[in-house]
Amino acid sequence: MSNDGVNKGRRRFLVASTSVVGAVGAVGAAVPFVASWNPSAKAKAAGAPVKVDISKLEVGQQMIVEWRGKPVWVVKRSDEMIANLEKMNEVVADPFSEKPQQPDYIPKEATRSLKPDVAVMVGICTHLGCSPTYRPEVGPADLGSDWLGGFFCPCHGSRFDLSGRVYKGVPAPTNLVIPPHSYLDDNTIVVGVDKETA
Ligand code: FES
Repeated sequence: MSNDGVNKGRRRFLVASTSVVGAVGAVGAAVPFVASWNPSAKAKAAGAPVKVDISKLEVGQQMIVEWRGKPVWVVKRSDEMIANLEKMNEVVADPFSEKPQQPDYIPKEATRSLKPDVAVMVGICTHLGCSPTYRPEVGPADLGSDWLGGFFCPCHGSRFDLSGRVYKGVPAPTNLVIPPHSYLDDNTIVVGVDKETA
């Protein structure tokens, strides 16, 4: 699947190799998750799930895959990044994800993820739909010394932490969306498939 046009040219990105699950259904026969490879008619109509191989994703890296025409980010967070999320609770507007921007089975704590070190979210700003930029560095000159890594939206300056939680006082009203997803194995995420859509 092509990733052209999705933050093209940014160096830290690992271009993802993805495949539409429905096209490789035979693979499902070899694993005990056959049901998850057969999305319901409703799910198919809404867009087929996408399988993501994260085996080559290194700590600190972001990869981008396309699902339903949207960029989905997968970020491998370091221990330091995970620890810093707690420090952001006072800075972000909805630290415990009270506004529904994620499936019920995603923890509402700071990590907002099934695994603490792997963040998955839709890379579209909740203000007017630009795609924010991955800025993992701490204290860069343009974002300020208190920046602990996150995503910056170049359109109107919204800021999000490394869990996609929106800062207070920026144009974006809510945290970034977390798509339905599940793990097929340690290195394979299926975006668009969870208990409800399988
Ligand atoms: S679209 Fe991101 S801040 Fe406006």
